[in-house]
Amino acid sequence: MKFSALLLASASAATAAAAPRADVHHADVHHNEKRAMVTVTEFVNENGAVVIPGATDTSATVATATLGGSVSSRSTTTLSPASTTATSSGSSDNYGGDLSDFSGPSSKFEDGTIACSAFPSGQGVIALDWLGLSGWSSIQDSDGQSLTACKDGAYCSYACQAGMSKTQWPSSQPASGASLGGLLCKDGYLYRTNTDTDYLCGWGEQTATAENSNSNGGIALCRTDYPGSEAMVVPTWLDNDSTAKPVSVVNEQTYYQWQGKTTSTQYYVNNAGVSVEDGCVWGSAGSDLGNWAPLVLGAGSDNGITYLSLIANPNTDASAANFNVKIVATEGSTVSGDCKFENGAFSSDGGCTVSVTSGSAKFVFY
Ligand SMILES: *[C@@H]1O[C@H](CO)[C@@H](O)[C@H](O)[C@H]1NC(C)=O
Repeated sequence: MKFSALLLASASAATAAAAPRADVHHADVHHNEKRAMVTVTEFVNENGAVVIPGATDTSATVATATLGGSVSSRSTTTLSPASTTATSSGSSDNYGGDLSDFSGPSSKFEDGTIACSAFPSGQGVIALDWLGLSGWSSIQDSDGQSLTACKDGAYCSYACQAGMSKTQWPSSQPASGASLGGLLCKDGYLYRTNTDTDYLCGWGEQTATAENSNSNGGIALCRTDYPGSEAMVVPTWLDNDSTAKPVSVVNEQTYYQWQGKTTSTQYYVNNAGVSVEDGCVWGSAGSDLGNWAPLVLGAGSDNGITYLSLIANPNTDASAANFNVKIVATEGSTVSGDCKFENGAFSSDGGCTVSVTSGSAKFVFY
């Protein structure tokens, strides 16, 4: 209650200040270790003071993954214990997701039935073949250090199709501040780390989409694998045909909380014309790819309000981006605030946020 009052006060006082915004955590970026930003949502009250929702809402203790969405009807492929690495043609279109996919999953994951050497494709789970990790999005030991194989004791993290979020992470996290996510490999088989849900992927709030008509080509949105390695490898491909694709909007009260702070979804936005395989990776300095991509999108929902952001990537100079993007209300929806990135500049310095108070909004690339 206290929290929602603070949030509303901040939202009406200054929309731009009513996060989510990316917090610059530390500046040194080590390849495959930690990126420059953490996925923490900061709420700022009308006096500019940072408000920590977890600290004022005593009911928000351990995050459990109850990502909304109906658990019914259609699914992509059937989860089978025998399934191995998913086939993928390498076409970026495979990673797009589709608005009609706002349903399912329907087949429960069974602990201890799939070998760690396999990959549990289907039911929203997609294999990321270009990473060379047998389909996994990242693999960590219990301290959060990167591994290259899903073996006993490892947390094997996976991507969900566009719009969905993984439901698996352990409630007990390393004290170091690193985060762990995914399935646990134990005695050669995969186990859930969050048994509150039977499904590995879940839909979020379904209040945002993205579409693209940029003449330079398709755009690879690359979501951070979080909680987990934070590698920006989870793809959403936007062909330049203005087809709307779902953007994951996590419910911040039920999604992963980092040291008591709520977190949001973050997508690195590569330049138009960069493929998923080239862009959804840890890039190298000056490459303009992955963690060096020009922009970051943020999305999260709190107390029924969806916050959508465009953020400059502190690693790069966003002004060189070859696309424009604006956040607009869908028909019949209410969005407060103005937020766009056009001709290399944001509508307000460093980035901007809108709040969607009813209905949904879309990121429109042009
Ligand atoms: C889509 O991108 C291609 C370049 O990959 C370009 O030739 C084409 O004109 C673009 N389409 C639109 C609608 O801008």
